[in-house]
Amino acid sequence: MARTQILEASWYDYPRYYDIVFQGYTRQEADFIEAACRKYCPFSVRRFLEPACGSGRLLTTLARRGYQVTGFDLSQPALRYLQRRLARSGLNAETFEAEMSNFRLRRRVDAAYCTISTFRYLLTEQAARDHLRCIAGSLRQGGIYVLGLHLLPLAVDKEDVECWTERRCETIVTVTLRVLRIDRRRRIANVRVCLLVRRGLKELRLRHEFQLRTYTARQFRRLLDSVPSLELCDVYDFRYNIEQPFALNDEMPYRVFVLRRRLPS
Ligand SMILES: C[S@@+](CC[C@H](N)C(=O)[O-])C[C@H]1O[C@@H](n2cnc3c(N)ncnc32)[C@H](O)[C@@H]1O
Repeated sequence: MARTQILEASWYDYPRYYDIVFQGYTRQEADFIEAACRKYCPFSVRRFLEPACGSGRLLTTLARRGYQVTGFDLSQPALRYLQRRLARSGLNAETFEAEMSNFRLRRRVDAAYCTISTFRYLLTEQAARDHLRCIAGSLRQGGIYVLGLHLLPLAVDKEDVECWTERRCETIVTVTLRVLRIDRRRRIANVRVCLLVRRGLKELRLRHEFQLRTYTARQFRRLLDSVPSLELCDVYDFRYNIEQPFALNDEMPYRVFVLRRRLPS
């Protein structure tokens, strides 16, 4: 009989399971970030920043590809997991605890990135704008910010659920992400994540509820316009095809924005 443990906890306190859930996206995202740097940066990129880096799946991948990487997060367990992982692989990264809407780097980076809607954890317009300003202040001129987030579709399905399973060695993790409610006036989505982790006869069930800010294409565009130090270069979708930018509209929910710190005119 399986031994089951049930927890109400933040899934970021279990970075290994979180990391397994998103491992399938990592290579394609890292390839796209590199391709965007080649296409939009007027110099060769050596240094990256990842705000809210979590378990560091992207940071570690880019460090392994020879880049200098810096990442920060609010979660201590995630940062400890990342440090152990870097040490095990003989890699280096600068990591620290900080808040996405209020941080400062000692040295500017060439490029930064933040995907899978992490930006939406900033729940107010002010926090989102402060974040973009901090990013602009952390980039050298001409440096880019690759920012991926789900926009709010004009019509929301009654049942907005995603479920998938990933495996690493003996550990099998099934994740179910459910949008419970969307308050369009306050621009807040309530989301529930359920993890089912199986390892041999042991089973862990974890439930975590959190909020994300919502954006329509127009709301996001307005936010960008309020940070003139960043210009919008192009917009992509979940296929991460650098040859195929799209117009910004509400049709495709997941969008990847390539922003650039303006060069002096
Ligand atoms: C969806 S995970 C993304 C992790 C990583 N960027 C990735 O792509 O795998 C969101 C991360 O954001 C962090 N986070 C949430 N709000 C934050 C904030 N205001 N400042 C810094 N980190 C934050 C969480 O601790 C978590 O590690």
